[in-house]
Amino acid sequence: MQAVPKPAPAVGSEPPFLKEYMNQNAPLTALQVMQDAPVIPVIVLNDVAHAVPLARAMLAGGIRMLEVTLRTPQALACIEAIAREVPDAVVGAGTVRSKADAQAAVNAGARFAVSPGYTTKVGQACRDAGLALLPGVATGGEIMAACEDGFIELKFFPAVQAGGVAMLKAWGGPFFDVKFCPTGGITLQNAPDFLNLSNVVCVGGSWLIPAQVAEQGDWTRVTRLAEETRHLRKNKP
Ligand code: 3PG
Repeated sequence: MQAVPKPAPAVGSEPPFLKEYMNQNAPLTALQVMQDAPVIPVIVLNDVAHAVPLARAMLAGGIRMLEVTLRTPQALACIEAIAREVPDAVVGAGTVRSKADAQAAVNAGARFAVSPGYTTKVGQACRDAGLALLPGVATGGEIMAACEDGFIELKFFPAVQAGGVAMLKAWGGPFFDVKFCPTGGITLQNAPDFLNLSNVVCVGGSWLIPAQVAEQGDWTRVTRLAEETRHLRKNKP
């Protein structure tokens, strides 16, 4: 019997290389994770029953790179459920702070990792586990340490609290080859200020999942919030 080709996902039409990449189920790079949408949602889940509907709501709104933070006892089960049941989503683990976190994340099906800070151990653990890593930095010294280990796509955390747009502009001089995903204090309103910077590829934020939205099962609201971020997209090299 002839195989029926799988329809292309209805979301995230660019960049096209990523679709091919995802179809092959090959390892991702941090840059690919950052380039897929203007925002990487930072997701905290307390109930595994919320994981799949939330991922589907995000997908329906055009967001498929999903960072599920390892901050709750249910986080790994949530990652596992999304990886298993929502194949068009790309689930990653946030709050990766140790080698054990990286290993647990990849075992659960995470395809990328985000860390709140950077250590060489975490960097190496993610490499060993085959996980693309967006390491968190907040100072020049941390940027230099990450770059020394070969990481040049970084999360700036906590972005607003640690200097915001002005800090990123200042870093653009000495760290001209580094790209950032500012996270922490980003909203739909201030996101464009960050996305307009040449050294910012995307932002991260929890605003797409307001408090209680999962408990209330208000998935339409999540989809609407995801859709609202579309106009934030800037095509950058
Ligand atoms: C994170 O947990 O990575 C950030 O704190 C998310 O920050 P936000 O809640 O301000 O978006």
